[in-house]
Amino acid sequence: MMNGRAAAAGGTGAPRPSRQISIVLRPVEPAASPAEQPVSEMVKGVEPGSPFAEIQRELDAMVGMEKVKALIYEIYALLHVSGLRAAAGLSVGPQVYHMIFRGNPGTGKTTIARIVAKLFQKMGVLQKGHLIEVERADLVGEYIGHTAQKTRDLVRKALGGVLFVDEAYSLARGGEKDFGKEAIDTLVKAMEDYKNQFVLILAGYPEEIDMFLLSNPGLPSRFPIRIDFPDYTVDQLVKIAELMVKERDYEMQPQAVAKLRQHLTELKRDSMFAFSNARYVRNAIEKAIRHQAVRLLNLYGSGQPGRQELMTIRPEDFRWDSDEA
Ligand SMILES: Nc1ncnc2c1ncn2[C@@H]1O[C@H](COP(=O)(O)OP(=O)(O)OP(=O)(O)O)[C@@H](O)[C@H]1O
Ligand SMILES: [Mg+2]
Repeated sequence: MMNGRAAAAGGTGAPRPSRQISIVLRPVEPAASPAEQPVSEMVKGVEPGSPFAEIQRELDAMVGMEKVKALIYEIYALLHVSGLRAAAGLSVGPQVYHMIFRGNPGTGKTTIARIVAKLFQKMGVLQKGHLIEVERADLVGEYIGHTAQKTRDLVRKALGGVLFVDEAYSLARGGEKDFGKEAIDTLVKAMEDYKNQFVLILAGYPEEIDMFLLSNPGLPSRFPIRIDFPDYTVDQLVKIAELMVKERDYEMQPQAVAKLRQHLTELKRDSMFAFSNARYVRNAIEKAIRHQAVRLLNLYGSGQPGRQELMTIRPEDFRWDSDEA
């Protein structure tokens, strides 16, 4: 029986149990689209022993890239459910996992490729789950036939894992007579010959990758999975810097953070392309760490700086040479 208060809240005066039940069974709010939903929330159901648990930890450690994370989770879900469907005797459709990564330099493409390789290994798609990262010079040879041989050798090395071709566009750059075309043809042939034995990821700047796919009408359909790597905001770059500093057992003084933020803001404002480079941030941190070491040595000589001093990055440790922007 309903109590008086609930009945009064119902507004009719009479107890209406059916209404109460309808409240309990109210349909769940539609889920936010993956883009707005942090991956840690999407994957709440992932148990500690699940193959995704470790992947999730690695993804969670990365700043931003919610859409990328959501896509990786989708791939995991697809692999998992495909396994269940196969076990139930249902058709699982074509299993093609070759991918295109579109993003500016330093937006995390290589890091994600490594995570994808690990995911495929854990899910039994790939035997080894290693990553072979190559660029044009690794694939293209000096004489006719050399390119095909070099490319085939690298594909063989990548079997059981991921072959990651960075700056893939440069393979199409030279036109018909360029050996880059031979590399592409060899890769496409290898995709047929070694079906499901390796995953090919082509990566590059967004515009260049688009041009590349246009250069060969057979290409787009061979890469059903496309992942876009968005540019980082200055806030995200600063957060990445803070993570990197912490990982290395250092701390930035607030003024040092402010100086870095200012510098990144200027770079983003002045650069011709979309500056979004986590790698630049890493180099800046590593350089500051070297400057800090020199500063401490000069200051203390053979003396002993305190623990806090050893950890502290001061604003003067960040110095920007004009040749590095
Ligand atoms: N979202 C992120 N959070 C934390 N660290 C990041 C993030 N993205 C990139 N990094 C770090 O920045 C560095 C560069 O990343 P990575 O090499 O994956 O980028 P990339 O897109 O492959 O760059 P490039 O196009 O120059 O090859 C790495 O040290 C990586 O760990
Ligand atoms: Mg890279």
